[in-house]
Amino acid sequence: MDTPPPLQGHTLAGYLATQAKADASLRALVLALAATCGEISALVARGALGDVLGSAGAENVQGEVQKKLDVISNDMLVACAEQSGQVAAVGSEELEDVIVFPGGDRGRHLLLFDPLDGSSNIDVNVSIGTIFSVLPAPTGRAATAQDFLQGGRSQQAAGYTLYGPQTVLVLTLGEGVAGFTLDPRDGAWTLTHPDLRIPRDTREFAINMSNQRHWAAPVRRYIDDALAGRTGPRGKDFNMRWVAAMVADVHRILSRGGVFLYPWDQREPDRPGKLRLMYEANPLGWVVEQAGGAASDGRQPILDIAPTSLHQRVSVVLGSAEEVERVVAHHHEAAA
Ligand code: AHG
Ligand code: MN
Ligand code: MN
Repeated sequence: MDTPPPLQGHTLAGYLATQAKADASLRALVLALAATCGEISALVARGALGDVLGSAGAENVQGEVQKKLDVISNDMLVACAEQSGQVAAVGSEELEDVIVFPGGDRGRHLLLFDPLDGSSNIDVNVSIGTIFSVLPAPTGRAATAQDFLQGGRSQQAAGYTLYGPQTVLVLTLGEGVAGFTLDPRDGAWTLTHPDLRIPRDTREFAINMSNQRHWAAPVRRYIDDALAGRTGPRGKDFNMRWVAAMVADVHRILSRGGVFLYPWDQREPDRPGKLRLMYEANPLGWVVEQAGGAASDGRQPILDIAPTSLHQRVSVVLGSAEEVERVVAHHHEAAA
């Protein structure tokens, strides 16, 4: 039997042509998104020279102060979605309500995004990213806000771009995870990581330790055990990393394993977590599952959650499967 030609080195368009699950409309949308993320990357790289740093002087629906780059990248992605002709409506972290495009009933998809993830890193020149999630649009009628409330397993495409030392695009269409690197000289995306797989076990965790005193008992138990190191219950030493941009923490986990937690905490007991289900946890949860890892809210897989609102928050544990399973087991034991 002939071995298939290696995909490594393919252009993004060449890779998409090999993906049986992506029809022409989805391929066109992913290419349009990648082109816009390449433009965002160029703006990020110009920094102060491009007058893109600092605050935009407004708050978003989450009550967070918007940075200029939050607003600019949001506007670029909205325009990209509309001009692509493939999108019926968009939802964004930076928009209170969805935007339904005029004539958008011809668009086959709904697009959700976190245009700039890790906003607190922008002005200090640390990694940031863009997260996107593509869902099917209703056919034969205009889309509504209600149409966006589909579980994570309905996603048709999801991924992120990371604006770090290199700009990379990490994409799943439901058959594994591929990574592409942007050449800033010509804006081309080349397949450099054909099959990203998360190692099952690890010695590295990512959590904002400054919130430790506010966590629930199962999370405290998991981190206490890790911190106890070689002579503790885990029998090994752990390392800690926290970039404060989920995209960057997830990318590290895809590259060398690890677990990421942003759990519920008791300061705001009615808020399930900080991160948003529809445009942060679902797309990154699907990428992680497709790379052989796991993503949970501590009790159930993130992708099994039935969404109730566009900006809904969720507790997140994702990464190497054995670590996520351990955190989930602690939650189940505490509830028993
Ligand atoms: P955003 O910039 O889109 O609001 O997301 C930031 C999120 C996430 O990317 C990151 O893991 C977390 O907030 C950082 O939170 P802390 O500031 O509590 O570390
Ligand atoms: Mn974010
Ligand atoms: Mn954001």
